[in-house]
Amino acid sequence: MESGAVRYGIIGVGMMGREHMVNLAHLRSEGATVTCVADPHPSSLEHALDLARSLHAPPPAVFPGHRQLLDSGLCDVVVVSSPNMTHFEILMDIINHHKPHHVLVEKPLCTTVEDCRKIVNATKRRPDILVQVGLEYRYMPPVSKLIDIVKSGILGHVKMVAIREHRFPFLVKVNNWNRFNVNTGGTLVEKCCHFFDLMRLFAAANPVRVMASGSIDVNHKDETYDGKVPDIIDNAFVIVEFDNGTRGMLDLCMFAEGSKNEQEISVVGDIGKGEAFVPESIVHVGLRAEGRAGVKIEKAEDARIKYDGLHHGSSYLEHLHFLSVIKGESIDAPAVSLMDGLLSVAIGVAAQLSIEKGRFITIQEILQC
Ligand SMILES: NC(=O)c1ccc[n+]([C@@H]2O[C@H](COP(=O)([O-])OP(=O)(O)OC[C@H]3O[C@@H](n4cnc5c(N)ncnc54)[C@H](O)[C@@H]3O)[C@@H](O)[C@H]2O)c1
Repeated sequence: MESGAVRYGIIGVGMMGREHMVNLAHLRSEGATVTCVADPHPSSLEHALDLARSLHAPPPAVFPGHRQLLDSGLCDVVVVSSPNMTHFEILMDIINHHKPHHVLVEKPLCTTVEDCRKIVNATKRRPDILVQVGLEYRYMPPVSKLIDIVKSGILGHVKMVAIREHRFPFLVKVNNWNRFNVNTGGTLVEKCCHFFDLMRLFAAANPVRVMASGSIDVNHKDETYDGKVPDIIDNAFVIVEFDNGTRGMLDLCMFAEGSKNEQEISVVGDIGKGEAFVPESIVHVGLRAEGRAGVKIEKAEDARIKYDGLHHGSSYLEHLHFLSVIKGESIDAPAVSLMDGLLSVAIGVAAQLSIEKGRFITIQEILQC
């Protein structure tokens, strides 16, 4: 083992776990090394070993479950990239383990606010553990550029944040775990926690109440698993009101492959408007005083990105930041805190409940659940 190496274990090596392996391989020169992986699904482990070979990385030790991985003593950092409904138990075992392991947990932190809160409380007993939540859309170059523009104040006080995600349907996952709300937390938790996190950043405020309308209209209707038809919604509009008066709006459509961009974000302040487009990686900025003719169009790039991967370099930057915090090179805490993770889930849970009840849901009622 090289001195200065930071040893990673990956829990869950399906699509996203293997994506983490590739990202970490691109951080080899920064000291990252994947020493072990855990997954109960033999073919996921085989794919992970094949991947390690193709990356010219040492073969990781393989375990059928996270407990064996934690007991092995082979890693100092764990990436939790198993299905959403497993995050709570795995995180609790990590937090309660005698050996400290820093954690990067994939979004959503957990599928319910109650479980998120238990994790937040349990980590208070472990100041020796750093935890970052994988809300990585913050790192996508056009998104982080727009965040910087908003923070600079040139748009004035932010009043409206509109996020449109128009994309392809949910992919097929190992054992089809993502077809049912009970496993994912619901589409507006599973996928849209990313966007509710971004809304909080742009609004620089916390959510007060949520109103949503959505349903399953096109996708997965002809699928059955053990006799059950998927119940995950494939389109929704969600309105989020924030405690500083800012309004957020999410427009989600998961049967919109015919879109130029997958995400279009618009942030309007009382002085100007900024927009970010992914994957075009373009940002528009315009001031009311200058009108349409004054709108500037800029390409967003980040020269630090060595691997674009599935999420336009955001997973790479997420790891780069977390690694520098772990190595003590940066005084910053993990960029995305457990409370960020909890609140992004709370807005999603409120939106799911709003669809069910047909009324505004206050965040207070969700946090009291
Ligand atoms: N950051 C993002 O934008 C992003 C994108 C995709 C997925 N994700 C998240 O990553 C996680 C994994 O999603 P995926 O797309 O890789 O799913 P996947 O089905 O491709 O892979 C999940 C893997 O976890 C394994 N697994 C199941 N139970 C486990 C357990 N108890 N312990 C260890 N491994 C277990 C499965 O066998 C499978 O190999 C989810 O939480 C998902 O929401 C995040």
